[in-house]
Amino acid sequence: MSAPSLLRSGKVRDLYAAGPGLLLMVASDRVSAYDVVFAEPIPQKGRVLTAMTAFWCEQVGDVVDTALVTADPAEIRAAVDGAEELDLAGRAVLMREADMLPLECIVRGYLAGQAYEEYAKHGTVHSMAMPAGLRLADRLPEPMFTPSTKPEVGHDENIDLARAASLVGAETVAQVAAICLAVYERAAARVAEAGLILADTKFELGRIDGRLVLCDEVVTPDSSRLWPADQVVPGTPPPAFDKQPLRDWAATQPWDRTPPAPPLPEEVVAATSSRYVACYERVTGRSLADWYGPA
Ligand SMILES: Nc1ncnc2c1ncn2[C@@H]1O[C@H](COP(=O)(O)OP(=O)(O)OP(=O)(O)O)[C@@H](O)[C@H]1O
Ligand SMILES: [Mg+2]
Repeated sequence: MSAPSLLRSGKVRDLYAAGPGLLLMVASDRVSAYDVVFAEPIPQKGRVLTAMTAFWCEQVGDVVDTALVTADPAEIRAAVDGAEELDLAGRAVLMREADMLPLECIVRGYLAGQAYEEYAKHGTVHSMAMPAGLRLADRLPEPMFTPSTKPEVGHDENIDLARAASLVGAETVAQVAAICLAVYERAAARVAEAGLILADTKFELGRIDGRLVLCDEVVTPDSSRLWPADQVVPGTPPPAFDKQPLRDWAATQPWDRTPPAPPLPEEVVAATSSRYVACYERVTGRSLADWYGPA
C-alpha cells in the first residue's frame, strides 16, 4: 500500500489526502520566524501543536463545530490507507476538509505585536479607532476581532471589518467574529486558571456543507501569545510562552529576515523546545509524556 499523497506543505504543517472529504494534517517540528523557516527542527514541537489543538477542540466543541475527527494513531491507521507509512504518531490529526475562508481570524484581548506597532504609530488597531493612552501589554477595553488577509505569498496584512466583509461578506464576518470571540473567551478563562493570559490568538475557519467550522491549529504557542499573568508589566514586553527565545536570539543576528535563515545554535533549539513543552503542560495540566508518539 502506498503512503497517502502530499497535497500541500505549509511552513509548519503537511496536508495529505485521506479519503473523500478528509485530510491528514501533520505538524512537523519546523519552526519559522518572520515567515522564514529555519533549517533546524525543534524537538517535540509537532507533538505539542497537535496535542494542544486536540485539547482545545475538546474544550470548545460546544461553542463551535471543529474539523477534527481524531488524533489517535490507531484510528488514523484504520481510517487512512497507507497511513502507517508516514511518521505520524502524536503529530497527525485526521480532519474533515473545509473550504477555508481567505482570512486569518485574530482575536486580541491585549495590545501586542503588530497591533501595538500600528497603535503606537497611528492610534488605531487594524485601522479601527482606539482610546488614547494604551501601553504595550495593556488589556483592551474588550476583546476585539481583528482579521488579516491570508495571501498565498508574502506577509499577512491586517485589515478592518469592512475589508473583511468585502472578502467574505458582512454576514459571514459577523458570524465568524461571534464564534472567534466566544472561543477566545472560553480559552482565555481556561488559561487564566493556570495563571496565564491569552493576549491574542489566531483562528482559521472554513465551511463544511455550508456550516462554519473551526479548522487548523487551535490556541497553540504558534498561533497565540500566552503570558504568565504575574510577569506582565504594561509598557514592557511580557515573556511569552512561544518561540520568544528564538526571536530574541534572531534579533541579535546580522539577519535581514529574508531566507535563508541563519543556523540555530543548539542551546536556542533546546530552549525553544522546552518552552513549547512547558506551554502545553502548563495550559492543559497534562504531561506531554501521556500524549501519543515518541517522547
Ligand atoms: N480542515 C481544513 N480543511 C482544509 N484546509 C485546512 C484545514 N485546516 C487547516 N487547513 C490548511 O492547512 C494548512 C496548514 O499548514 P500551515 O499552517 O503549515 O500553513 P502555513 O504555511 O502556516 O500557511 P498559513 O500561514 O496560510 O497557515 C493551512 O493552509 C490551512 O489553511
Ligand atoms: Mg498556518
